[in-house]
Amino acid sequence: SRIAVLASGRGSNLQCLLDGIAAGQLHARIAGVFSDRPGAAALDKVAAAQRWARKPGEFASREAFDAALGDAVAASAPDWIVCAGYMRILGAGFVQRFAGRLVNIHPSLLPLHKGLHTHARAIEAGDAEHGASVHFVVPELDAGAVIAQARVPVLAGDDADALAARVLAVEHPLLLASVRLLIDGRVAERDGTVLFDGQSL
Ligand code: GRF
Repeated sequence: SRIAVLASGRGSNLQCLLDGIAAGQLHARIAGVFSDRPGAAALDKVAAAQRWARKPGEFASREAFDAALGDAVAASAPDWIVCAGYMRILGAGFVQRFAGRLVNIHPSLLPLHKGLHTHARAIEAGDAEHGASVHFVVPELDAGAVIAQARVPVLAGDDADALAARVLAVEHPLLLASVRLLIDGRVAERDGTVLFDGQSL
């Protein structure tokens, strides 16, 4: 399988996919890394020929950026598109173009804490648990059917950074396990729900 990865930052989730491939745990290859930030460290994790990055400000509209991004992603002929720390909202046009093959990892126990600053919000809310979710992407932000989640405790004295680090540590195995399910054909999306081995549980 070919996996296109969208990333905006340091790329630790991308690195975990690369490590899984190198270790023979993931029978796939990274088709390309695509970013809205030309300086993103994630881009440095693959060869120059596999990178695409443009500043959204160079485009006349969000749709124009998303169209260029979509063309670049499509040109890499991916089976799956994984948003791993991609920090821009993908427009409906892009989402529809790759519907069913587009997943995201979000650092919260969805449907709790959609959007940004999830760790601070979990602490603020007094949540006893927090975590990460891998879900199919739909036009509504962080609202797609959830494939898998990983939980961590929120500990007394946690600040957002401490909690974020605890969550990040479970994101990596969660993402690897979720992507393995996808490329092994064990999970699929149908009408907004997740099918496991063809069955909706
Ligand atoms: C992760 O916490 C991810 O859940 C969130 O942004 C962070 C990306 O980290 N969307 P990295 O770039 O993969 O290290």
